[in-house]
This record gives sequence, C-alpha cells and structure tokens, in this order.
Amino acid sequence: MKAIIPAAGLGTRFLPATKAVPKELLPVLEKPAIQYVVEEALAAAADEIIIISSATKHALEAHFNCDLGLEALLAATGKTAYAEAVHHAGNLPVSFIEQAQPLGLGHAIHCAAEKVCAAVAPEPFYVLLGDVLVPENSILPRMLAISQEHDNASVIAVFEVPMEEVSRFGVIAGEAIKQDIWRISEMVEKPPQDRAPSNLAIFGRYLLSPRVMELLAHTVPGVGGEIQLTDALVSLLAEEEMYALVIDPEEGFDVGTVESWLITNIKLARRRGILGELL
Ligand code: UTP
Repeated sequence: MKAIIPAAGLGTRFLPATKAVPKELLPVLEKPAIQYVVEEALAAAADEIIIISSATKHALEAHFNCDLGLEALLAATGKTAYAEAVHHAGNLPVSFIEQAQPLGLGHAIHCAAEKVCAAVAPEPFYVLLGDVLVPENSILPRMLAISQEHDNASVIAVFEVPMEEVSRFGVIAGEAIKQDIWRISEMVEKPPQDRAPSNLAIFGRYLLSPRVMELLAHTVPGVGGEIQLTDALVSLLAEEEMYALVIDPEEGFDVGTVESWLITNIKLARRRGILGELL
C-alpha cells in the first residue's frame, strides 16, 4: 500500500523558525518530526512512501539522503550509535514529488495522483500529515482492519475536541457502530461552532479510496482559499461508505504550532524518562 506524506506547506504558524528549516524537520527529541511519520508508514507495511515537498524545502530531501562521509567520520571516532542513526535516516525508502505552490492539503495529495492511479487496479492509500506524530504507530493497523471489514472503504482517524475548538478542524458526523468506530454521514471543514455537526475532529491520518484522486482533480478552493481534502471527501461520501476511527488524543501529537510542538516534546520526554526531576 502506498503512503503519501504532505510536507509542502509554508509552516506560517512557526515563523520565523520555519523560514529556512521546514516545519516537518523541527526536532521532536532527537529526531525530526517527519522521520517519525516515515517510520510509522513503514511499520504499517507501506511499500512506497511519497513525500510531497516544495522547491524551497531541499532540507527534507537532504535529511533522507545517505551521508557516507559523516557515517565514516562518526564510526572512526567511536561514535557508533550516532553513525547508525545517520545511516538509518539516510536509508529510509522515501521518494519525493514537488508541489509547485502550497494550494492546500487536497492539492498536495493530488500531486501524487499519477503514482496512486498508475496501477491497473488502483488500491486504497494512506495519507499521513507530515506534522502529526503517532509515536507508538498504533493507528494505521486499526484503520486498515476497519477498511478490510467494510469492502476497502475509506477510514479517517478522528478525536474528540472541546466544542469551542471545532472551528479549527475538519469535523465529521455519523452513527457509532462500535464504541470507537463510526459510519460517517457528514463532513465539514472548519465549521463555526454553532454549525458543527459534532465534536469529532479529523486527525492527520487517512486511509483513502483511490477514487478521491479523481474527485480532487475537480475540487475548487474552499475554506481559506485552499483546495481542501475534506471537500473532496464530502464528494466521496456521496458515492462510497466511509468510516471513522475514534482515537485517544494521547495516541497522536500535532507539532504544527509552537505550543503543540513544545507540549509534544515534553510529553514524549516524560514518557521516556529523559527529564527526570527537572520538570
Ligand atoms: P498545515 O496547514 O498544518 O501546514 O498542513 P502549513 O500549511 O504548513 O501550516 P501553516 O498553516 O502555514 O502554519 C498539514 C500538512 O500538510 C502539508 C503541510 O506541510 C503539513 O505537513 N501541506 C499543507 C502541504 O503539503 N501543502 C499545502 O498546500 C498545505
């Protein structure tokens, strides 16, 4: 199964840090955020990982390139663990597609349409946002199981947010068919609080029917003037069943803002016992 990782956004909310360093390369503990995302896709047995990048984000490609000189230098000075870490990052199987302009998440995903639709029988594919981490890799396998139980239907991860925050997210509505699984009936991008159909917000993990690529080709700019994935999913919902997996908010971390990045680092440092008595 293919995995698409959109990482071509401007990172506006993290400026000026993201002026020269892509947001997806900001470190979460010792690793750049996007490396967690690539490792999560591999753990879910993705056989092709496509990062959507932009012409100004060369550093993303540099991170995943081999650096034999650095590896040799580290090895020669006895820094074996660091040499191995550099080797590992440089050998992760990723490829890149350029999004010429940051026209929105839907547009970024559509940049990989040829790759997804080239097969004789196009398969469902994963989308993992490049600034959202799932350190225990716990979500995609459950989404795949739900999809397989329902004739390869699309599955979206969602989580409960306070009603006052719904207008920051895509929001779904539907009926619960199990405690943590919903059949989706409605979806809307960044609704005002009084028009939100629920408080189940879309989290950055999707398992999507290839049909969405055809729908994205005709999706016009929506909220914020961006080509929104949610709008294409609303069209998909008119044709195909879709499901949502309700995750525990502690399973995943958004690192797209200063606050959320800082909280993620602190929570993961605590989990690993790195901070000791310091915080
Ligand atoms: P975000 O909206 O969180 O990222 O998109 P952003 O646009 O970089 O952030 P701000 O709003 O300017 O602060 C979620 C993911 O989708 C990618 C981003 O890189 C991020 O990883 N994205 C977003 C694209 O690849 N292309 C786009 O046009 C928009």
